[in-house]
Amino acid sequence: MVSPANPPRYVPIDGKPWRLAMGLRTLTEEKWIEVDGLREAELEQKRDLLRTARSTVVATLPHSLAAQEELEALVAKNLSEFHPRVIIDGFNDPEPIVRASAVLQEDCCILEHDGNGWLLTAACVCFPSRWTLTEKIGRDLTAIHAPVPSYATLLSAPVEGFFDRLKPDQPKWRLNWTILDTSELHLPTGSAHRRKELLDDLGDLTFRVERQTLRRMENTGAVVFTIRNYTTPLSTLCRSQEVKDHLLATLQTVNHEVAAYKGWEILLRPLTEWLSRE
Ligand code: HEM
Repeated sequence: MVSPANPPRYVPIDGKPWRLAMGLRTLTEEKWIEVDGLREAELEQKRDLLRTARSTVVATLPHSLAAQEELEALVAKNLSEFHPRVIIDGFNDPEPIVRASAVLQEDCCILEHDGNGWLLTAACVCFPSRWTLTEKIGRDLTAIHAPVPSYATLLSAPVEGFFDRLKPDQPKWRLNWTILDTSELHLPTGSAHRRKELLDDLGDLTFRVERQTLRRMENTGAVVFTIRNYTTPLSTLCRSQEVKDHLLATLQTVNHEVAAYKGWEILLRPLTEWLSRE
């Protein structure tokens, strides 16, 4: 398990009411991949999972091979150009998306258009945040997001339009955050396994940010979606009084449906009380 003690690299909490938003920002090739001091530990955990739980962390459809190969080449090029000091210890695997993902802290997904919509055709996701890859492979964006409250009504059409218009030279990134009762990165099941005893010390809860990138590949036209996780204990995050206040203000606006989806039902009240204390 990788559990850093420093404040997270990204703190996407502004104190505004809870809302569902695309929140896309402009990305450059230089910033596509992020490398930090946790690389060795995270890659080791990924490789263990690839050896011991491959069917949980890898799912591919046969026709995704060309897009997987294009992704592997893009990753190699990016690392050599923008992270030349990183030691690339290759991982032996028959599938290009696995070889690509095994040299990155990011998890990788590929989506391809089948004439009707964008389907997840290949993925190597070692660090899912309480979802199951086998339930998502081969599905379109709306089906993938079926458990997300209000996604179908608020985000489905804008996300679909964004994918249709995404150009290879206009990569984007966005952030997602949640609060979890574990710092474990590999969470391939739903929130049912949530522990309750941590409620005694809410500072031990984990603040988890996902940095996601989206880019269209030139040759195959497939879209690459990467997910990079940053975690920090809530006590570390809340060393900043401003962040603490913002988190409280936002959590106070979370409705029941969102709380249920996030697995925050039993947490929300004690957490807002904890955040209100000095
Ligand atoms: C612009 C693009 C996208 C937007 C705006 C978006 C938005 C979201 C949001 C708001 C959530 C809920 C997260 C939370 O509150 O904790 C979510 C969950 C999720 N997203 Fe996306 N997403 C996008 C692209 C994708 C893509 C390309 C994939 C492909 C694998 C994906 C896979 C997922 C999965 C697996 C979940 C968890 C669903 C579950 O709980 O079963 N998303 N997304």
